[in-house]
Amino acid sequence: MNPHPVFYPVDTRGLMPGEVRQQTLGGKDIAIFNIDGAFFATSDFCTHLRGRLSDGHVEGETVTCPLHFGKFNIRTGQAMNPPCKAGLPVYPVRLEGGTLMVGLPAQAEGRPHIPVTAASSMPRASA
Ligand code: FES
Repeated sequence: MNPHPVFYPVDTRGLMPGEVRQQTLGGKDIAIFNIDGAFFATSDFCTHLRGRLSDGHVEGETVTCPLHFGKFNIRTGQAMNPPCKAGLPVYPVRLEGGTLMVGLPAQAEGRPHIPVTAASSMPRASA
């Protein structure tokens, strides 16, 4: 397994503070959060029964699952109340030339992946 994440560009235009948006990156469903102008990325699936957190409610650094109202800390992925017990996968983010880049685990060796670079034609984020 390659320990280095592969970074994907994300278009954050229109993603306002306090909002979340679903994004498919590298075949994975990711939730992109804007917390007071800082971006965070987690799995889009609740660890209880896979509710979509991009349909959840964001308040401060907490997202509430729309299905059974489990809560997670967006920065750390920590489950904050039942029925959620397992933490949420969180992914590293960085800005490259104004574009948000989200790092996902590289696929297992022997399975090809196509890394996307910041040199893509994605529009620049205005954050
Ligand atoms: S699916 Fe999220 S709390 Fe049940």
